Amino acid sequence: MKITEALLAEHVVFHNLFDYLEQAAPKLKSLAETRGLASLLEAMLEVHSKVEDELLIAPLEPSFSQMGQAENFHREHELVEADLKLIQCSRKVSEARDLLLRAVLLSRKHFDKEERIVFPLAEKQLSAKSLSLLGKRWGEQRVVPIT
Ligand SMILES: [Fe+2]
Ligand SMILES: [Fe+2]
Repeated sequence: MKITEALLAEHVVFHNLFDYLEQAAPKLKSLAETRGLASLLEAMLEVHSKVEDELLIAPLEPSFSQMGQAENFHREHELVEADLKLIQCSRKVSEARDLLLRAVLLSRKHFDKEERIVFPLAEKQLSAKSLSLLGKRWGEQRVVPIT
């Protein structure tokens, strides 16, 4: 499996989670519930972003630097992370819900950009062999964690 196919499959799972969170957020009544959902999203995004940075963005770094996009991508990961962390210190459920929805929206935009720009760029810039080797590394991450 190519790394782009593996990451795209992860994206499908996230899109389902984003749909659920957008539906559930307006009905959340307590801070504890909202914080719990934010923690779940944060934990899942952390692993995805780490794997993506290591197995896709790093090999593409030269092309990204040329486009002036490398910083942008790291920054987008950080912005979502920052919103999710703020939820843990938020005192009002309405504020926490808004932050959760904003983090989902930012994530959707980021994922969309990756699907439209980054994954096709990787397919163009990296050889079929490299894409498969990176995909193999993705499959091994439970045994050999990506740090
Ligand atoms: Fe990303
Ligand atoms: Fe991604």
